[in-house]
Amino acid sequence: MRNVIEMHSHSEQQTREVGRMLGTMLHGGEVVELCGPLGAGKTQLAKGLALGLGVPKDVPVVSPTFVLVREYAGRLTFYHCDAYRLQSADELLALGLEELLERQDAVVAIEWADRFPNALGIVAIRVDLEHEDGSSRRVRITCPDASRSAELDRLLSDSGFDVGGKRKCRK
Ligand SMILES: Nc1ncnc2c1ncn2[C@@H]1O[C@H](COP(=O)(O)OP(=O)(O)O)[C@@H](O)[C@H]1O
Ligand SMILES: [Mg+2]
Repeated sequence: MRNVIEMHSHSEQQTREVGRMLGTMLHGGEVVELCGPLGAGKTQLAKGLALGLGVPKDVPVVSPTFVLVREYAGRLTFYHCDAYRLQSADELLALGLEELLERQDAVVAIEWADRFPNALGIVAIRVDLEHEDGSSRRVRITCPDASRSAELDRLLSDSGFDVGGKRKCRK
């Protein structure tokens, strides 16, 4: 079974929807690494994650670039952080994310996590976003376990996303 889901998103709404579906599958203690260049859609995907984690729709989820970590109450507590301005893995560790995750009732999403690979020592779900033409983005989601990627694959396919890789999404 493959652990990598490859697909295309054609709008910020679709990217948020992918995040929302991933969010609904999480049960606490997970790290989601959001990787890709500026403007690729990391924050959009995080907005979707928040929805999937039960953060109310009317709570604005905004880029945490300047505050380092933002906290949102939902079905699980959602911590959204951004490693863009951090100088070292130690600075990332100093945010105390590991302690938050130990409680198993929180999920942490880290934008630019690939700047400090494996800093938290937790096997993460990784989302890579890449610009394509116009508003198209290549989305690759790597889950540590095959059963979870199968579940996400099913959720995405059921709502019309083409997770086949090469072909375009039908939505
Ligand atoms: N398919 C898409 N997915 C995500 N964002 C998109 C897409 N197409 C266009 N956009 C635009 O690209 C920008 C992505 O911004 P953002 O999510 O803040 O990126 P990042 O956090 O990766 O820097 C937004 O302005 C959004 O409207
Ligand atoms: Mg961002």
